[in-house]
Amino acid sequence: MNPKKVAGEEAAEYVEDGMALGLGTGSTVRFFVEKVGEMAQKGLNVVGIPTSKSTEDLALKCGIPLTTLEDTPTLDLAVDGADEVDPDLNLIKGMGGALLREKSVAASSKEFIIVVDESKMVEKLGTKSPLPVEVSPFGWRSCKEWIAQLGSVPSLRMVEGQPYLTDNQNYLLECGFKGIEDPYELDTGLHKIPGVVETGLFLDMACKIIVGKESGSEVNEE
Ligand code: A5P
Repeated sequence: MNPKKVAGEEAAEYVEDGMALGLGTGSTVRFFVEKVGEMAQKGLNVVGIPTSKSTEDLALKCGIPLTTLEDTPTLDLAVDGADEVDPDLNLIKGMGGALLREKSVAASSKEFIIVVDESKMVEKLGTKSPLPVEVSPFGWRSCKEWIAQLGSVPSLRMVEGQPYLTDNQNYLLECGFKGIEDPYELDTGLHKIPGVVETGLFLDMACKIIVGKESGSEVNEE
């Protein structure tokens, strides 16, 4: 079976009746959303908070009732994908452009489960994926220069010749690192830069990583 489907559907095993769920973004977590949709059609009572417009559309299509963080500030479980996972369960996320909402939703949840295939597992963050950093369009060039001084090569994500806009109408800098030595120090440094809205470093947030494989799944826990 498709490893992404294995991981996404395994995460649905952790859903209980009455839960408020954070619904992540991407091609792996979509299998979780579809499974929860099936369960809701059969009578499971849950509400979801989507982390992007695309997940909102998917959840509505699947019949999952939605709410907001304003109405439901504490969630029981959030499930999302990741771009990289290191041995300490720290993550790079956000290459789908949804990192700000993903981080708010994950931080509001009692449990945060990540669903990935094996290709996302790395020894050191920043070795396979660039680090996405969401920045304000105002002054983004200065922001890019300051981020470069932290040891990366940032490039502005473009779509059809125009800067890509996140759901929050911000820009996305894809910051190449040849491995991130100290993700905590880097995250602190990035947050000090004027114009940085959020970083794709999700540190000490995930409690469980479900790694989907063709033959089944493996669960890594704290
Ligand atoms: C969305 O912004 C991202 O954080 C995704 O969760 C991440 O890119 C993983 O996506 P895939 O499951 O599609 O690889």
